Amino acid sequence: MNVAEFCERYAVERKGTNSLKWDALDERFGDPDLIAAWVADMEFKAPEAVLDALQKRIAHGVFGYSFVPNSFYEAFIKWEKQHHGYEVKKEWMRFSTGVVTALYWFINAYTKPREAVMIVTPVYYPFHNAVKDTDRKLVTCELVNDNGFYHIDFDAFEKSIIDNDVKLFIQCSPHNPVGRVWTEEELVKVLSICKKHGVLVVSDEIHQDLTMEGHKHIPSAIVCDGEFADRLITVTAPSKTFNLAGLLFSQIIIEDEQLRTQFDDYVKTVNQTEVNILGLTAAEAAYRHGQGWLDGLLAVIRHNYEHVKRHLHEVAPEIIISPLEGTYLIWLDLRNVIDPEKTKEFIQDRCRIAVDFGEWFGPEGKGFIRLNMATEPRFVELAVENILSNLGR
Ligand SMILES: Cc1ncc(COP(=O)(O)O)c(C=O)c1O
Repeated sequence: MNVAEFCERYAVERKGTNSLKWDALDERFGDPDLIAAWVADMEFKAPEAVLDALQKRIAHGVFGYSFVPNSFYEAFIKWEKQHHGYEVKKEWMRFSTGVVTALYWFINAYTKPREAVMIVTPVYYPFHNAVKDTDRKLVTCELVNDNGFYHIDFDAFEKSIIDNDVKLFIQCSPHNPVGRVWTEEELVKVLSICKKHGVLVVSDEIHQDLTMEGHKHIPSAIVCDGEFADRLITVTAPSKTFNLAGLLFSQIIIEDEQLRTQFDDYVKTVNQTEVNILGLTAAEAAYRHGQGWLDGLLAVIRHNYEHVKRHLHEVAPEIIISPLEGTYLIWLDLRNVIDPEKTKEFIQDRCRIAVDFGEWFGPEGKGFIRLNMATEPRFVELAVENILSNLGR
């Protein structure tokens, strides 16, 4: 399916549907008429198979208590194996209403108040919040920004662990917002350092399926034939891949029995609900039948990213665009063209775009913006046009 076909088939108007991205613009940005390029969801309907499965479930008319059937496990296990080479076992799996909720659970289950939890920044802002809200010590290690390409300074990473007696590291793989798909070599280094210092790793792999050509997501659990899996928790979901975030369903994978028990013991004190039947239904259908849709979506993301690169690079080469290896979120460094103090005024008031501002992801992000590419090309084209015209180009 090419880009035009995909958009023709799946693009929809979201205004007036209680959409956080579009209908909360006034509340969040103080302006209801911006181009919504912020929050990470899309202007596309879910795959037909998902809608059919949901409709069938709804037509049945009963929404009683449910459990996760074997058919779901089969679908997810097959997906992980085929796409990522990870052979997940059913007994390792747990569920939550979202990845962010699960991050709070992990911090509470595996660390004590005021113990140190580390993240590498800039990173998805709920990582910061999860550590602060649970009264843990937030340790940040800044990624190295090499002209837009970000990488980890492993010496600094190790030093931060030692200096702060870090107990838990929350990894973002692929990384939002800088678009990196960590290589095997990088993962080996990170996981080895964590192992050496007894640091438990939580790997948020929600963007696992959203990678660009030439980049392959490697689940941390299979690095070095699973050498690090006994000190690792993986969390992922169909919500980014298939645009299902509002259905509140995500998967947790804990291979180590002791870590699983620790998790279960904690979670029973805060969560006594079963899964959401519609989230579960949608997830199974997506993992079974969503491949064609996902291929079309990836073509759209690539197309939009190429558009931004081509036009900004030609006309305003001082804007640094981080290479998009994974996720559908591009990270732009505007500091060469706009005073970082004026980013908001420029992007929001003049260019009329609602973005995730860089400083939301950490102070080093000031002067940067994150733009969502999983949308119709017309929105991306308009955003680029507005940026260039307001720069006087
Ligand atoms: C890295 C990362 N983790 C988690 C989430 C959100 O997950 P959930 O909606 O399941 O809480 C996002 C959403 O953009 C994300 O980028």
